[in-house]
Amino acid sequence: MNNFLSNFPLHRPRRLRKNKWIRKLVRESSIAPNDFILPIFVTYEKQSTEIKLMPGIKRLNLEDAFDLSQKAKEFGINAVAIFPEVPSKIKDETGKEALNRNNIVCRLVEKIKKFSPSLGVICDVALDPYTTSGHDGLIENGEIINDKTINVLCEQALINADAGCDIIAPSDMMDGRVEKIRNYLDKNNKQNTLIMSYAVKYSSNLYAPFRNAVSAATKLGPDKKNTYQMDYGNINEALREASLDIKEGADILLIKPGIMYLDVLKEVKSTFNYPTFSYQVSGEYSMLKNAILSGEYNEKEILMETFLCFKRAGADAIISYFALDIAKILKKG
Ligand code: PBG
Repeated sequence: MNNFLSNFPLHRPRRLRKNKWIRKLVRESSIAPNDFILPIFVTYEKQSTEIKLMPGIKRLNLEDAFDLSQKAKEFGINAVAIFPEVPSKIKDETGKEALNRNNIVCRLVEKIKKFSPSLGVICDVALDPYTTSGHDGLIENGEIINDKTINVLCEQALINADAGCDIIAPSDMMDGRVEKIRNYLDKNNKQNTLIMSYAVKYSSNLYAPFRNAVSAATKLGPDKKNTYQMDYGNINEALREASLDIKEGADILLIKPGIMYLDVLKEVKSTFNYPTFSYQVSGEYSMLKNAILSGEYNEKEILMETFLCFKRAGADAIISYFALDIAKILKKG
């Protein structure tokens, strides 16, 4: 296959690159605001505050978080993903604030769904913003325990769904949680609530700014999250994880992080042909944003390249802190 390509001068691939109009016609991938999901950090505090490691991104109070969701909608973004910053006095060992039906996440979900029912809302299901340890699960004798954690996650999923959340996104990487959550939601009349599984989530350095943003970084211990998040040397394991989550009833698979893991995204997408999203995480945002701010790159040009590459690799949608920026760029044309 493709032997004919060497047949010069009959074939001159540069003919298809000569002018902008023809380059546009033969471009194989495209991006639109439709492809993006905007993460929003919401805080219990009255004042919105800057996130030091993520220039341009804030922990927003309820009102500002709501306003940002409306702005996203205005620019054609179809869904937002909510992450809470929980004050340390509310955190405890079991993360019980996660099960408070009136917590900040539920309040924001309710507000968004009340005023903008057509904007999709995604809630992370994991305990890390709520636990003093910063771990996603419960701890017994130094171990992040799987099965008891799942019971709590089921409850967390249900209160979010009850508040109006459209997509439950378990990001905890416990084994077997998708099936348990699916069954629990169904039993409680939430058959239509979607599950987007963080099916393939690597134990990555690139989450550092996020953990700083939700104050969940300092007490993880020497193993960090390596006993539940995946080793970044592995890809066969990614296929096993994805296949398990499909069998367990996930509607959408999420691959995370993004740009360094496009091989994994492509492999999972082409193996299962399943709705597959990618998460351009906080560390990726920071690296790019700092380089844009220092004048190294033109914002529009570097973002267009970055996101087209996600699409080329097979992403159906991309969660990104740049979602609003790129939507604005695309609108201007
Ligand atoms: C929590 C969670 C994390 C992220 C999304 N959900 C952090 C972690 O696993 O430590 C990371 C997102 C980002 O870095 O932007 N389970």
